Amino acid sequence: MAKTLVRRILLPFALLILFYTAFRNTPVVLQPSAQYPKHLGKHQEPLHVPISRPFVNTSRTWDHWAAVDGFPSNVESKPMELEISNQDSETAGVPAPVILPVSHNSQRSIPQALLGQLECPRAPNRFTSHIRLPNLLYNISMSPRSAVLREERTFWNPTIFALPYWAKNQYIIVSMVTPDGGALRRNVLCEANICHPKSAASTLTHERSCSEDDLGLLGPSGGLRCMTAPIEVTVPPTPAAKCEGREQVFADIPGFHDPRVFYTGRGEPILMISSQSQYACIGLWVIDLRAVYPELEGTLASSPKRLGPGPVMSYPTLTELTRNPPSSRRSYEKNWVMFSPSSSSSYLQYDLTSSSRTIAQLIGGGLTTPNMTDPLEEPCLRDLTMEEIAGSHYNENSTWHQATPSLKLVLCSRSNSTCNPETADTVFFAIIHRKNVNALGLPVRYERFVVVWSAAPPFNMLAISRHPILMANETTFSWTAEESWDDVPEALLENRELWGRITYTTTIAYAWGREEKDFREKGTGHLDDEVILSIGVDDEGQVYTKVKVSELLQCLRVCPGREQVNLDESED
Ligand SMILES: *[C@@H]1O[C@H](CO)[C@@H](O)[C@H](O)[C@H]1NC(C)=O
Ligand SMILES: *[C@@H]1O[C@H](CO)[C@@H](O)[C@H](O)[C@H]1NC(C)=O
Ligand SMILES: *[C@@H]1O[C@H](CO)[C@@H](O)[C@H](O)[C@H]1NC(C)=O
Ligand SMILES: *[C@@H]1O[C@H](CO)[C@@H](O)[C@H](O)[C@H]1NC(C)=O
Ligand SMILES: *[C@@H]1O[C@H](CO)[C@@H](O)[C@H](O)[C@H]1NC(C)=O
Ligand SMILES: *[C@@H]1O[C@H](CO)[C@@H](O)[C@H](O)[C@H]1NC(C)=O
Repeated sequence: MAKTLVRRILLPFALLILFYTAFRNTPVVLQPSAQYPKHLGKHQEPLHVPISRPFVNTSRTWDHWAAVDGFPSNVESKPMELEISNQDSETAGVPAPVILPVSHNSQRSIPQALLGQLECPRAPNRFTSHIRLPNLLYNISMSPRSAVLREERTFWNPTIFALPYWAKNQYIIVSMVTPDGGALRRNVLCEANICHPKSAASTLTHERSCSEDDLGLLGPSGGLRCMTAPIEVTVPPTPAAKCEGREQVFADIPGFHDPRVFYTGRGEPILMISSQSQYACIGLWVIDLRAVYPELEGTLASSPKRLGPGPVMSYPTLTELTRNPPSSRRSYEKNWVMFSPSSSSSYLQYDLTSSSRTIAQLIGGGLTTPNMTDPLEEPCLRDLTMEEIAGSHYNENSTWHQATPSLKLVLCSRSNSTCNPETADTVFFAIIHRKNVNALGLPVRYERFVVVWSAAPPFNMLAISRHPILMANETTFSWTAEESWDDVPEALLENRELWGRITYTTTIAYAWGREEKDFREKGTGHLDDEVILSIGVDDEGQVYTKVKVSELLQCLRVCPGREQVNLDESED
C-alpha cells in the first residue's frame, strides 16, 4: 500500500524534476488563446512568428505526399539522427521506464469477451481477400444549410467527432481544403448534422430527415452536411529547427496538415496536427479545440447532468509532443496515436509495425517517459508472405501506418443489464493501414485493419482484423471491378464499376446520440455503440460510414502470445 503510494505520488514528481533538469529548453508553447480574444471568434489572426526563408511553391509535392500520410515510404524507412542542442540531456540521466505490476494472466490471455469477436461474418472476397461490411459510405458536404452561396472548394481527409448529445448540432468536422495552386495548406471547421431521406430516416433512430436541398447536395442516400459556415482553423505557425536534404522543401510550407480530432479521458476535445518541429523538421502538436473554436467551450460546459465548467485544459496552447530520449526521434514524425487509460493519464503510441512498437506516457507539457512497451510482447502485425509478394497485387515495400485516433471500449453491451463498466474488461481500438506501394514507392492502395490493445498496463496488443475491411459500396484498387465485386452478386449483375482509388480512414469516433452522463465518456463506448469513420477519397473527396463496434471488431486474429485461456483461468 505504502509502496504503491510512493510510486503514485513520488515517481511522477521525480520524473518531472528529472525532465526539468534534462531539458534546458522546455517545449515552446505558442499561445493562440492569448492571441485570439474571444470576441474575435471566427476572425482569428495567427501568431506572427516570422519565417526566415522564402516560400517555395511545392503545393502539389507537399500535398500529394504529405497530406495522405506524410512522406514517401522509401524516405521514412531511413531513421534520421537528430542533434538536439541540449547535449546534457544524455548525461543528465534518462529516467528508467516505469515498471508496472502485471499479473501473469493479463500478460498471457485475452479478455473472454474478445473471444466472441473472432468469428468472421462471411468468407473474404476470394480475389482481394477483403471482408465487406453491409454499411454504406455516405457523402459529406461542406456547403452549409444557412449559406446563400454553395461551397465551391473541394475537401478531403476529413476528421470528425461527435458533440455531446445536448449540443445543438451533432458533429464537428475539420477538413483539409484541396490545394488550388497556393502553397498555404488550409483547414476548415464546421458543425454538421447527418440526414437521411424520409423513408430511411424513420427506420433509423436519432436520424433527421433530409430536405430537397440536402438530397441535391449529398445524393439520394443523404449524408453529413455543415450546419455552420466552415471557418478557417488557425493555429500559430511553427518554424522548423532543421529540414535537411530531401526534407528541405518542408521547412517553409505554411499551414499544418493531417489534423485529427479526438477526446482525452478527461473529455478534452483535442486537435492533433503535423507542423514544422522545434526539434527537427516535422513534428506532432496538440491543442485543445476550445482554444481554436471557442464556441465549443460553452457547449461542453452546459451538460444537463453535470454542473460546472467543461474539462480542464491540458493543452490550452499549441504544444509539441516529444520522444524520450530525444535521440530516438526522427526528423520527420507522423501518425502518432494518443490513448487515455483513465481521466488523468494519457499515452502515446508512436509506432506500430510488424517489428516494433513504441509507447510512452505523457507527463505534461508534451513531455513523455521513455519507451514503456512490454519487451516480452511478440509483434502482432505480419509482413506479407513470399507468395503474396510473388503475385501481382503486393509489393515488398508495403508498410504499416497508424491512421486514426484510438477509442476506449468496455467489452460488453450498454443494453445488457449485467454489463458493469467498472468491472468489465476494457481495451483500446484504432484503425491502421497497410500502405501498398508501386515500384516507384508511390501509394497504390490503403488497406483498413482494426487493432485492439489492452487498456491495462502494459497495454499489450491483443488482436487485429484477420482481413482488410471494405464498406458495402467500396472497391479496392489493383483488382478488376469484377474481382472487387465478386462478393456482391447484385453489383456484378449491374456491372458496377470501380470506385475511388485511395480511400484513407482518418478518424474513428463514437457516433452522436448516446446519452453520456459526462463529457469524460466521449472517448469510451460499448460493443453495441456505433462509431463513425471518416474517409478521404483520393485527393479530392470525403465520405463517412457508421458501424456498430461489435461489427467493426469481428473476424479478429488473436496476437501471438495471447493464447486463449480456458474458462476457470479467465475468472481473474
Ligand atoms: C459509395 O458511396 C460514396 C459516398 O456516398 C459514393 O460517392 C460512391 O459513388 C459510392 N460507390 C459506388 C460504387 O456506388
Ligand atoms: C504553384 O504551382 C502550381 C502547379 O504546380 C501552379 O498552378 C501555381 O500557379 C503556382 N503558384 C504560384 C504562386 O506560383
Ligand atoms: C454521393 O454523391 C454522388 C454524386 O456526387 C452520388 O452519385 C452518390 O450516389 C452519393 N452517394 C450516396 C450514398 O447517396
Ligand atoms: C520500444 O520497446 C519495444 C519493446 O522492447 C521495441 O520493440 C521498440 O523497438 C522500442 N522502441 C524504440 C524506439 O526503441
Ligand atoms: C450480458 O453480459 C454478460 C457479462 O457482461 C454476458 O455474460 C452475457 O452473455 C451478456 N448477455 C447478452 C445477451 O449479451
Ligand atoms: C523497394 O524499395 C527499395 C529501396 O527503395 C528499392 O530498391 C526496390 O526496388 C523496391 N522494391 C520494389 C519491388 O519496388
